[in-house]
Amino acid sequence: MGAHEDYLPFIGGLAREAGALLLKHFGRVRIEYKGGVDLVTAADRASEALIVERLRTRYPRHDIVAEEGGGNESGAEYRWYVDPLDGTTNFAHGLPLFAVSIALERQGRLVAGVVYEPVLDELFAAQAGQGASLNGKRIQVSGVQSLREALVATGFPTHKRHKNPNIHFYHAITLRSHGVRRLGAAALDLCYTACGRFEAFWEFNLKPWDTAAGTLIAREAGGRVSDMVGGEYDLASPEVLASNGLVHEELQELFEEIFAGRNPQLPSAEEYRQHRPDLVRPRAMK
Ligand code: IPD
Ligand code: CA
Ligand code: CA
Repeated sequence: MGAHEDYLPFIGGLAREAGALLLKHFGRVRIEYKGGVDLVTAADRASEALIVERLRTRYPRHDIVAEEGGGNESGAEYRWYVDPLDGTTNFAHGLPLFAVSIALERQGRLVAGVVYEPVLDELFAAQAGQGASLNGKRIQVSGVQSLREALVATGFPTHKRHKNPNIHFYHAITLRSHGVRRLGAAALDLCYTACGRFEAFWEFNLKPWDTAAGTLIAREAGGRVSDMVGGEYDLASPEVLASNGLVHEELQELFEEIFAGRNPQLPSAEEYRQHRPDLVRPRAMK
């Protein structure tokens, strides 16, 4: 099969099938741990088994990198990245914000990707050079020009979370924007940036299966995806910044300030306690 095959009908259908399977498990899973607080459920494994089996049958010569380890790598020209359930922590707690993410890379270039959110039945899709869509309709990043008017998203890892500096970034950017959301599903953060719900998204230490499909979708929707200091994002980059392009430089300049330690100081809890406003109770409650 050639480089220009239209992959989207097949992987869109596959993501929908895996999403339907996730919904069957939703609300009735038992939490297991694969690290200190890194959760996994039977739904992650069942979704991965389904996706890997279908990809293997259809593209037996392609490599597959899948989060729960069901893939295989042999240095093939094409490589699939599979996150069978992005947002496992949300899923395990019954919070309806999670997705399936599937992407294809050929020799370092993203070729096609889909992210499916089964609760809202939203399928984000993109093929290189052909734009991005949400349920078949073309999507574009927002036209918001400044961080001051932007809604932004980020995430925090479960793995090595005590080494993560993101709370400083979260604080600084909260003070300069309409707000920072933390959805708990990086693939959705990227797609929501692609369709204009967010102006930007950044995170530290994501994995290729979190970002592969969403990166292509955001770029094909007119967005920009880089690392946090301006280099092109590739799937091995330790940091990602995706945006509508218009607020990108402002965010990068801010990141440089924060990396240099020139971020606004957080009030300590003790300072807050000392100057805590008196409680004012309505008369009926006295
Ligand atoms: C996680 C989510 C989350 C992000 C974590 C990821 P998972 O993926 O994308 O938003 O903050 O870093 O590991 O484990 O739910 O597939
Ligand atoms: Ca993930
Ligand atoms: Ca996952």
